[in-house]
Amino acid sequence: MTLSTVSPALALRNLSVEFLESDGSLQVLDGLSFEIAKNSFVCLIGPSGGGKSTLLRAINGLVPLSKGEIILSGQPVSQSNKELKQNPQVGMVFQKPNLMPWRTLWQNISLPLEIANCPKDQIEPKVQDLIALMGLQGFEKSYPHELSGGMAQRVAIARALAQDPDLLLLDEPFAQLDALNRERMGEELLRVWQEKQKTVLMVTHAVDEAVFLSDRVLVFSKRPAKLKLDLEIPLSRPRENSIRYSADFVALSQKLHSALS
Ligand SMILES: Nc1ncnc2c1ncn2[C@@H]1O[C@H](COP(=O)(O)OP(=O)(O)OP(=O)(O)O)[C@@H](O)[C@H]1O
Ligand SMILES: [Mg+2]
Repeated sequence: MTLSTVSPALALRNLSVEFLESDGSLQVLDGLSFEIAKNSFVCLIGPSGGGKSTLLRAINGLVPLSKGEIILSGQPVSQSNKELKQNPQVGMVFQKPNLMPWRTLWQNISLPLEIANCPKDQIEPKVQDLIALMGLQGFEKSYPHELSGGMAQRVAIARALAQDPDLLLLDEPFAQLDALNRERMGEELLRVWQEKQKTVLMVTHAVDEAVFLSDRVLVFSKRPAKLKLDLEIPLSRPRENSIRYSADFVALSQKLHSALS
């Protein structure tokens, strides 16, 4: 199979989103067109209120489009996901872990599988694998209030992976963590991404995080969002922490900073 016959994991074609407000309409996304290759890691950065979360929600079928289309693994996404039922092709992680406080760690991870009516004997090994993958062994019976911020976010990632989605959408998943934990979680995420072979689209405000993690970084303009910069990150993998101090890393970060200002 040649590369050109592999359909991208995600394609946006001339995508616009407007919200109707009492005094008119608010245009949030303006004619976005780009593709994301299968198994790549792409970060999205841009000004606050610029439409990044709106884009992730639209990809998950939760926001009506005013123009254009979203194509996931070759299939158009229908914007009729009214019951908030998770599209099994897509796993989503939000800025806050949004765990169910009355369910244990184990039960939070098994929830999407229960909702999808997965047979009980299949749920058990899947949840066990995810707990091992995210390094959560020993905390199966803990409740969310007993977990640290980093652990809660690991549970949210495990839950997003439960249905083995092709595409992971991460909306500032480490924003609430301190700098050291944020770096650790980034490294963990790269390990999981490599092991599970997923396509990742992640929103972040941190330029250094975007450069460290990504194959490519997209920069949005102010609202209504257009693509201001589409930057390849040609740093070798696996990425060691020391790469953050290299001249190439700094030059890429500078390009992103100037696109944001
Ligand atoms: N359901 C909605 N109805 C009306 N307006 C909305 C809705 N969702 C988002 N908006 C508006 O769309 C704009 C973009 O919001 P969005 O949350 O996508 O920005 P963002 O880039 O994720 O910002 P941040 O970086 O602060 O998270 C904002 O002005 C917001 O108020
Ligand atoms: Mg947001």
